[in-house]
Amino acid sequence: MLFKKTLHIAALLVVAYLMNSFVLRSGIMKDAPPRNDAIERRVDSLLALMTLEEKIGQMTLFTSDWEMTGPTLRATYKEDIKKGRVGAIFNAHTAAYTKELQRIAVEETRLGIPLLFGYDVIHGYKTIFPIPLGESASWDLQAIEKSARIAGVEAAASGLHWTFAPMVDIARDPRWGRMAEGAGEDTYLGSAIAKARVQGFQGNGFDNADAVLACAKHFAAYGAAQAGRDYHTVDISEQVLREVYLPPFKAAVDAGAWTFMTSFNEWNGIPASAHEQLLKDILKWEWGFPGFVVTDYTSINEMVQHGYAADFKHAGELSVNAGVDMDMQGAVYYNHLEQLIREGKVKESRVDDAVRRILRMKFMLGLFENPYKFSDTEREKRLILSQEHLAAARDVARKSIVLLRNENQLLPLSKNLKNIAVIGPLADSKVDMLGNWSAAGDAKDCVTLLEGVRAKWPNAQIKYARGSDVMQMNKVDFANAYAAAKKADVIILAVGEAGWMSGEAASRSDIGLPGVQTELVKYLLTTGKPVVMVLMNGRPLVLGDLAEKVPAIVETWFAGTQGGHAIADVLAGDYNPSGKLPVTFPRNVGQIPLHYNMKNTGRPMNPNDKYTSKYLDVPNTPQWPFGFGLSYTTFEYSDLKTDRSSFDRNESVNISVMLKNTGNYDGEETAQLYVRDLIGSVTRPVRELKGFQKVFLKKGESKTVQFRLSADDLRFYNHDLRFRAEPGDFDIWVGGDSDAKLGTRVTMVK
Ligand code: BGC
Repeated sequence: MLFKKTLHIAALLVVAYLMNSFVLRSGIMKDAPPRNDAIERRVDSLLALMTLEEKIGQMTLFTSDWEMTGPTLRATYKEDIKKGRVGAIFNAHTAAYTKELQRIAVEETRLGIPLLFGYDVIHGYKTIFPIPLGESASWDLQAIEKSARIAGVEAAASGLHWTFAPMVDIARDPRWGRMAEGAGEDTYLGSAIAKARVQGFQGNGFDNADAVLACAKHFAAYGAAQAGRDYHTVDISEQVLREVYLPPFKAAVDAGAWTFMTSFNEWNGIPASAHEQLLKDILKWEWGFPGFVVTDYTSINEMVQHGYAADFKHAGELSVNAGVDMDMQGAVYYNHLEQLIREGKVKESRVDDAVRRILRMKFMLGLFENPYKFSDTEREKRLILSQEHLAAARDVARKSIVLLRNENQLLPLSKNLKNIAVIGPLADSKVDMLGNWSAAGDAKDCVTLLEGVRAKWPNAQIKYARGSDVMQMNKVDFANAYAAAKKADVIILAVGEAGWMSGEAASRSDIGLPGVQTELVKYLLTTGKPVVMVLMNGRPLVLGDLAEKVPAIVETWFAGTQGGHAIADVLAGDYNPSGKLPVTFPRNVGQIPLHYNMKNTGRPMNPNDKYTSKYLDVPNTPQWPFGFGLSYTTFEYSDLKTDRSSFDRNESVNISVMLKNTGNYDGEETAQLYVRDLIGSVTRPVRELKGFQKVFLKKGESKTVQFRLSADDLRFYNHDLRFRAEPGDFDIWVGGDSDAKLGTRVTMVK
């Protein structure tokens, strides 16, 4: 049957290919130069054979009934596949199930066009890595790329072709739960991480069926939701959009990301899924993006609620004409696109452009040669949760941990400890360790903190008590916790958020420790025993006076499958923590938005002048700044030099600094370069990250760290939205966080 069908298609393709010279390669957008002529010819030939209904089918994406990642469910997806009315399926995975669905598409439809399988593989498929915000704290681009690579390898073995990741939304408001899925607040770091993740997912291409298409999302400015409330309105200037929110998307395109997802929000009063300026002008025209754009889940339909479209049909018209190629779950193209074309409201050439972009991916993946190439039960068994993958997950998890406080060198803990109390609602929770959006990750595969501590201190007496729930106000277990703690040499206390409290639809107005956890920590402090507070959370937390009362604080995010081992490695000093915050930790919610690269204002804070920009009740400074993270050793920066004090726009400045490990442990530091453009035709932030380097130093060792700064690095969007560097003075700092004090000044003369 399959053979006959293939023969039939082959014959049709040959005929169409011969006729191909006059097949229109039109489309209303600039079609980027084809990357592969042979594929382009095959795409055109196939397109010439397709009915309008089949074309619209390719533009339709439905979820399977395996999982719900949005509000509605279509139960008829198998029927739709059979009718050729759906070209892509998400939330279906495993080699066996994808094969079953693929067989329907290939053997039972007229043209046998294979399906594309997508899934939210955000931080691992089954081997779960730390949540993306956590991984970003490693500032280790190779490790981040490797994590995405492994996620791609596992997902591809399970029949998936496409991940809805990376999320490259800059997020400056920790109330927004989706901050957990991104790289944090900074555009420079976020762009570098976007590139690493795209490269990781897409690997060296698709010939070996060990990589998946990346999807940069959510285009655009989703992270700027007002008041951090998910799906809320975005109201930012075009300057801010271009300067802060778009660069990670551009980095994703430059790294070769093949797909883009629109966002739920509006920008400038227009919902992103019908935003011509974003989709047509910027993405497809300015950036020459050759892949396809999918909506977010029913975001076309939601334009009715936005008050932008009269009904679904109208929404579909606006969306397809704005450049959206595929409709996720909305069934709007499915139900209305044919009619819209008949009425002349949408040109068939626009549909052809969309279908061409989608088919291009299917050819590129090699699905026409072998539609089952990705669904491989043998590879699935061999690769998923392999020792190599687990070791990488442990390594990335250790690199993601940020040491926030370590009074009197309480950490690392001695390997000879005899009595340890492990306490807290998150200390033995497997499911929370996975964090949000954990794809096919299974809680049973997770190592909890308690398990990690037991493995690390096999000869110690380890007492465990939950102490409290994450959310509930009940204190009945406080007494057990106290009893366990009273006899211990040290208390390891795991507190924070439940895994589901960050991610989509998980905004919080109070970002403190939920429930009675603050009281639990304070109660245990009264034992007089040393307390190591292990935080697990998907966003910065406001800790109040705990930030000064608890002697050791370790930020572990949600560390993934190997989390417990990774945290124990750090606590015991088998790994010297090197993570740096990718996001500012505020002192209280009232300070938000608070990020390191704010503007100076005309009345910068002066403690002796009432009429300056400040609060009556809290300092302007954060609890911990962007880029901050301690080590068990100490680092000293000195001798900051530039090879010239003035330069013109064709030159670069070389910057060097001496970095010394002045403590008692070998360790790794992330040296960060910050710049301030003192006078601009539009005002500039007080600091901007322009470079970073990870440097490993043995104790006592020194190294010269070099950076290069060119005029290109100093460009910004001026009043006319031109991306230019302007002559003038620039302050430069190099140090271990965004509050670095060691600085110098250079001048760009022309
Ligand atoms: C999310 C996307 C996700 C999609 C599919 C939506 O609700 O916003 O990020 O990729 O669901 O699961």
